Amino acid sequence: MSDDTAFDDASPIAVVGVGAVATALARRLSARGAPVRAILTRNETAARTLADRVGAPIASAEAGALPADIRLVMLCVPDDAISDVATALAAVSHPWTRTLVGHTSGARTAEALAPLAQKGASPFSFHPLQTFTPDTPPDAFDDIVVGIEGTPDAVSAGRALARGLGARPLALTARDKALYHCAATLASNGLVALMAVVEEILGAADLGDRNASAVDLMAPLVEQTWGNLASGTPEGSLTGPVARGDEATVNRHLDTLRDDAPNLVPLYAALSTEMARTAVRGGQLDADVAENLLHRLREVLQSSPSESDS
Ligand SMILES: NC(=O)c1ccc[n+]([C@@H]2O[C@H](COP(=O)([O-])OP(=O)(O)OC[C@H]3O[C@@H](n4cnc5c(N)ncnc54)[C@H](OP(=O)(O)O)[C@@H]3O)[C@@H](O)[C@H]2O)c1
Repeated sequence: MSDDTAFDDASPIAVVGVGAVATALARRLSARGAPVRAILTRNETAARTLADRVGAPIASAEAGALPADIRLVMLCVPDDAISDVATALAAVSHPWTRTLVGHTSGARTAEALAPLAQKGASPFSFHPLQTFTPDTPPDAFDDIVVGIEGTPDAVSAGRALARGLGARPLALTARDKALYHCAATLASNGLVALMAVVEEILGAADLGDRNASAVDLMAPLVEQTWGNLASGTPEGSLTGPVARGDEATVNRHLDTLRDDAPNLVPLYAALSTEMARTAVRGGQLDADVAENLLHRLREVLQSSPSESDS
């Protein structure tokens, strides 16, 4: 299937919002031949700008401007705005019983669209497992996972939508969605926070004339590690002092953090705990050796002042 014929038989679509996800989604839909008929958002000028980019004839700040032939409405608004937008749309006279309504939040389920479900619409959540900024190109949908959850008919339509975008659908239950989103948050935002911590630790060290950022310094190490992970498993990719059961080195790290970045001691202990568990699972670390190390790390965690104490 070529890019511009993926949505040959698709019904007219409305996108609500003109932010990072809305822009990438509307552009991708349009590029693959989907009839994006309307862009709705709070600011009519912003709606018109995106509508012109994707060839949508309708651009409006009014929910009532939703054309009657729209059969798919995609809400790409902040999580906290989904219910309000759903309520505003539900007040519009529209053949809702023949309309699918999705939102792109990772944290919220289809339940957030309850006002529209009460009108007979088929609700679903459709979360692209990707990070988007206002400049993210539409090909950011290439081969990504889209987590989909909702009523069976809506999930089925969501799967087709994901495939049409060039992505891989992943059907989720409402309960699993929370775990899925927690994992995604750690994979993306957790990694960024970890690199910020690396930066903080290097900042405490006297590395002389530093021209490179922590990200630059660590890039080859991180890239090689990522390559190992991509072609293997976490268990098979783990190296370092914890995997070797080298408690003396772990203690030296803890001592230096206590002196120079005490706020990071609990994080180091918590991550080292997970490294030890991973190394035991992978058979690299003997369970008895690990138990001594884990005991030591538990003591560190229990004796670390919590944020609320400081
Ligand atoms: N960005 C990501 O990496 C990413 C990835 C996956 C999923 N998501 C999810 O996708 C959704 C949208 O995120 P985003 O990053 O695209 O947000 P965003 O860039 O902040 O854009 C949000 C859009 O919604 C509009 N909006 C806000 N309140 C509204 C309201 N009450 N009525 C109508 N429009 C309203 C905003 O208009 P104004 O300009 O007037 O405020 C803006 O156009 C969120 O649920 C988010 O969790 C985001």
